Amino acid sequence: MTKPRLYSGMQPSADSLQLGNYVGALKPWKALQEEHDAFFSVVDLHALTVPQDPATLREKIRRTAAQYIAAGISPEKSTLYVQSHVPAHTELAWILNTITGFGEAGRMTQFKDKSSRQGADATSVGLFAYPVLMAADILLYQTEVVPVGDDQRQHVELTRDLAERFNSRFGKTFTIPKALIGGDDARIYDLQNPTSKMSKSAESMAGVIWVLDEPAVSAKKIMRAVTDDEGVVAYDREKKPGVSNLLSIYSSLSGRAIPEIVAEYEGQGYGSLKKNLAELVVAEFGPVRERAHELMADPAELDRLLSRNADRANEAAQTTLAAAYDAVGLLRRG
Ligand code: AMP
Ligand code: TRP
Repeated sequence: MTKPRLYSGMQPSADSLQLGNYVGALKPWKALQEEHDAFFSVVDLHALTVPQDPATLREKIRRTAAQYIAAGISPEKSTLYVQSHVPAHTELAWILNTITGFGEAGRMTQFKDKSSRQGADATSVGLFAYPVLMAADILLYQTEVVPVGDDQRQHVELTRDLAERFNSRFGKTFTIPKALIGGDDARIYDLQNPTSKMSKSAESMAGVIWVLDEPAVSAKKIMRAVTDDEGVVAYDREKKPGVSNLLSIYSSLSGRAIPEIVAEYEGQGYGSLKKNLAELVVAEFGPVRERAHELMADPAELDRLLSRNADRANEAAQTTLAAAYDAVGLLRRG
């Protein structure tokens, strides 16, 4: 039996991924690759929708790919590649742009948020069209399942709408994909500001754990995490956001249920919870960090590996692109 096709990707927009990316994306991807024919891309073309420094972007792309592999995404089981290595993404995006409404694209809440923060003059057409490029990423591979965070739900809805519209206008060409949304328990908050999501764009880095940080630095950040004065280890997102966040990180790294962890720390202060959590984080990220550094130390080998994976992606993508070109009535090159 063939495995269902799965697609996801992350932008190469930081030197290191953060704990939220790891818990909310890489860890679930690693598990999903066993039961799916999975494609994971480093979506570098998406990263260009906001200003990037050309001198460091290339390095971030390699680093992101290295962290995918180091976290357990297998470049043999899965197809792990860099988006810009497969030209069909931009080619299909163009076709999909022509069937996307201006108003429809303008209703994307992520676009509205980002553009209102930046102002109209600093907002590029690329940022406006980004959800259509994302739709092309997904549809090129006849994807059935798209694991993403809740913030991407609307983009997957748009992808479904575009696929249905294209199929009904031009004949069945694309599989209609479904989003697989990570639950609340997969959401990680900033250690210093536990009501905001942990994010690389936080104002201060004191509450962000980086996958590639020195273990001692990560441990210190956990020990300094904001809690409350109650001194009781309990899970309550509203009243105890700091402690609840530590518990959900603990749960996702240990694979144990939150009530079990709460029971274990009953009658103890936050100190021992933090200390053991710091050890868990160091134990989890230590080997990932080491493997990522090994991979980054040999960029030529990493590039070869990405190139082989891009060949596989390219082959799958070309079939769909050719079908879409045919369907809309473009002339095949003789
Ligand atoms: P981003 O770096 O924000 O583009 O996110 C890339 C991936 O990591 C997406 O699948 C997000 O849902 C996931 N992610 C990012 N931050 C967090 C977080 N704080 N908690 C859980 N998942 C996250
Ligand atoms: N837009 C997604 C994000 O910022 C990344 C992404 C691009 C993606 N193409 C995708 C995710 C295709 C899933 C499928 O997080």
